[in-house]
Formats: sequence, structure tokens, C-alpha cells
Amino acid sequence: MSILIKNGLLVHPDRIEAGEILIDGEFIVKIAPEISRQDLGALEWGELEIIDAGGGWVFPGFIDAHTHYGLGEGSDATADDFFTGSRAAAWGGITTFIDFSDQVPERTLLQGALLRINQASDSILDYSLHQGIYRYHPRISSELDELISAGIRTLKIFTTYDEFGVKLDSCTWDALFSICRQKKILLCVHGEDDDVIRGVEISLGADLPDPSLHSVLRPAEAEAAAFLKVGKAAFKADIPLYLVHISSRAGLEAVEKLRKQGLTVGTETAPHYLFLTNEKLGNKDGALYLMTPPLRCEEDRTGILNALVQGQIDVVATDHCSYRPERKLSESDCRNIPAGVPGSEEMSGLIYSGCVSPGKIDIIRMENLFCSSPAKIFGLYPLKGSLLPGSHGDIAIFSAGIKGSYDSRKLHSASGYTIYEGFPRTGAASVTILRGKVLVRNEVFLGEPGYGRFIPSGVSSLYDDNNTGGR
Ligand code: URP
Ligand code: ZN
Ligand code: ZN
Repeated sequence: MSILIKNGLLVHPDRIEAGEILIDGEFIVKIAPEISRQDLGALEWGELEIIDAGGGWVFPGFIDAHTHYGLGEGSDATADDFFTGSRAAAWGGITTFIDFSDQVPERTLLQGALLRINQASDSILDYSLHQGIYRYHPRISSELDELISAGIRTLKIFTTYDEFGVKLDSCTWDALFSICRQKKILLCVHGEDDDVIRGVEISLGADLPDPSLHSVLRPAEAEAAAFLKVGKAAFKADIPLYLVHISSRAGLEAVEKLRKQGLTVGTETAPHYLFLTNEKLGNKDGALYLMTPPLRCEEDRTGILNALVQGQIDVVATDHCSYRPERKLSESDCRNIPAGVPGSEEMSGLIYSGCVSPGKIDIIRMENLFCSSPAKIFGLYPLKGSLLPGSHGDIAIFSAGIKGSYDSRKLHSASGYTIYEGFPRTGAASVTILRGKVLVRNEVFLGEPGYGRFIPSGVSSLYDDNNTGGR
């Protein structure tokens, strides 16, 4: 099938262009102010599917660079698996997501990753994987060679969650980071210092930490302390860092300090830190708003928003990790509430409504945050995140004229709720196309389970000399 997109404004990393896009099979083959019959070569005009963008923004398909679909088992499994999670994301204009493969003791990294890829076999969307590293061992270097050959080139470590057995012992950081340097592997960090958290826990004594205390238990200082500690080791190893889900001003200050010292730091935040505060945690249904790092105070929220506006943040990704409300509300101790919230489908509308529409950022910056920056940082560019001949025919048409409010009954996460219920909304993804296949159009879902494909990652742009992150 071939597709001709007309009457749209093409959003590139550095400019907007009135133009048309021809997709033949899975790839963009031509971009021009106007594409006529003569331009089609062997293609038949009558066989073209013509999509009128209605004057809307034509983006490369959005990338959600941080998701947890199909996580956990039994009563602790996420509500969304790869099928429902990617279907919800497609409704929001996302065409590629990056999920995680866990390191498990009885398998090599490659064996674990292949199982995860198999688990994702009913994905609607294309995807890549970050590899979690929770235990260092001498064979890890050769296991990472296998992983790179299979197309996984980002690692993720935790400085917290010792109780779940995923915190990487800091004694092993130097060894792992020097392997990252040799092999040009990007290191992603969930930064919250467990010692700081443990100290608060002890000071709370026997008090039951209900959801309202979650942001007290896991303070912004824990985020900053972890960033500075990992940053010091990264500097020594001469590797860049990518800091996931930054939530606080203290965390941002730590980033600025590291950048001033000369460290290359890629930065990510999530929509919930831009639009919600820990006030939500004090309500009866506070558990529904619980994720780690937690929602923070108004000053932190505006601090993160300002950092986004001023260009300190490279990527917005959702950390979509959805649980059913009954499960979240069944625990009163915030340490036992499964952490995470849904968000993939809401992401593009939130950033447009909350940042582009009020003039805080322009549409090009929205492209950078969702398309070219994550694609470059995660080694997917220019196959993904780009409107160029030779790139995948991945498109999100975004229509600014669609207005309304967020309503969980109209959203598609299997969790059945949204933390943005009732939020006014300006703009929505109206058409989503992945590799030349229309997934959503005219409010009809046309995607198919299994159409999504694993996309191997190359070297991160954060390893480039003189790089400016994904920017
Ligand atoms: O609460 C969250 N963010 N759950 C997902 C796991 C993680 O830490 O990113
Ligand atoms: Zn995390
Ligand atoms: Zn996460």
C-alpha cells in the first residue's frame, strides 16, 4: 500500500514546512511541496491512499522512550500488556516505544531479552529495549557483546529498590561503567538514593507511611544525591548519562552541576511531574497517583516545567506502568502499593495543551521532545523520529482544533483510569501511521497485534563529540 499525505504542516527538528509526504511500502520515499502523478514512478495514482491532514501538524511518529508494558505476574502484573499498552499509545500518535528487559539470575542477558521480545510479539507498535542491570558479574562483558549484536545498547540501573533486589551495588559501578565506555553503551539511571530514603523511613518510626507520605519518604534530596553520586562515577569513566524521570528542582540542580563539570547528561521527565503535585496523594484515592519518584510540591512542578521550557530537558516520556485501581487502592502502606501510572495515550495531548498551546514551547520543540531527540539518544535515528526519504513511514498527524477534556471512558489503557481525568485538552493525534500502515484514523483503530517489530538500537548521540544531547 502507498500513502500520500496532503495538506499538512511538516514538523522537522529545525523547521516547519508546508509539504506532502509519499510513503511506499514501509518507507517515506518522497517529500516535496507538492507530489503529482508524474512523481509517482511505477506507483499507480488510483492505488494511493490519500490522507488529508486538514492543515494539521505532521510529525514523525512519536516515541515513548520509557514504558513498562507487560510487567510482573499474577496479582502484581501491570494492567497493560504489550498489546493493550501499545494500542493505547497508538491512539496518542506514538509509533515506537522503548521498554525494559530485566536481568534474571538464571539467564544470560540475551536469553532474557529474547524472551522479552517474544512476550512483545503481539505489539501493535515498533519497539526497542533498555536492559536492566542489577548484578555485576565477570561474564557481563561478553553477555553485553551478545546483547549489542542483538540490537540492545542501553542499560538501566537503579540506585534504589534494594528491597526488590534491583539496586546495583555501587562497588560495581566503576567496572560496569568502564565496559559502557569501551562498547559505547548508554547508561540510563533511575536516581533515588536508598540511604537517604532509609534515613527518612527510620525517622518516621512506627508511623504507617500512607500515600500522603510517599513524597516525604522519597524526598527530592534522594534524587539529587543519587544523580551526583552516579555522575561522579560517570565522569571518572568518561561516559555520558541519561537520567530518567527527573522530578525535582534539586534533581535539576544536580544535573546543572554535572553539566558544568563537563559531563554529558541526557535528561528525561514525565508528564505527571509537569502537570500534577503531591496534593493528589493526600486524597482518598491518593494511591492511584503513586509512582516513583513521587509527585512533588508546586515549586518542583514549576521548576521542571521551566526547565522544559528553557531547554534543559531533552525528552518527555511517560514511564507508563499501569495497575488496576482496585490493586492500587488495596494497600494502605505506600511501600506496598504497586508503583506506576498509565500515560502513553495522554502524553502528546498534554504537552500540546499545557506547553504548546499556551505558547510556552513551540511545535518544533514538541518534535524534539517526542521524535528526533529520543531517536538520536537511543540510536534509532534517522530510521525513526524523522521525516526523511528512507525513514520508516511513521507519522502522527496532530490536529490542534480537536478540543475536549480527558475522560477515562474514552481512553484505552486496560487500567481503566487516567490521572488527568477532567483536564482540559487542546489538540489530539488524529491519524497514526506505522511503517506505511494506518493504525488510527477517523477515530477508528485499524492496528493489528503483531504488526509491531523489534527495532535494533545503534550508538547514542550522547557519545558524539561536541554533542548537545538529542538537541
Ligand atoms: O513508579 C514507577 N515509576 N514504576 C515503574 C518503575 C520505575 O521505577 O520506573
Ligand atoms: Zn524508574
Ligand atoms: Zn520506569
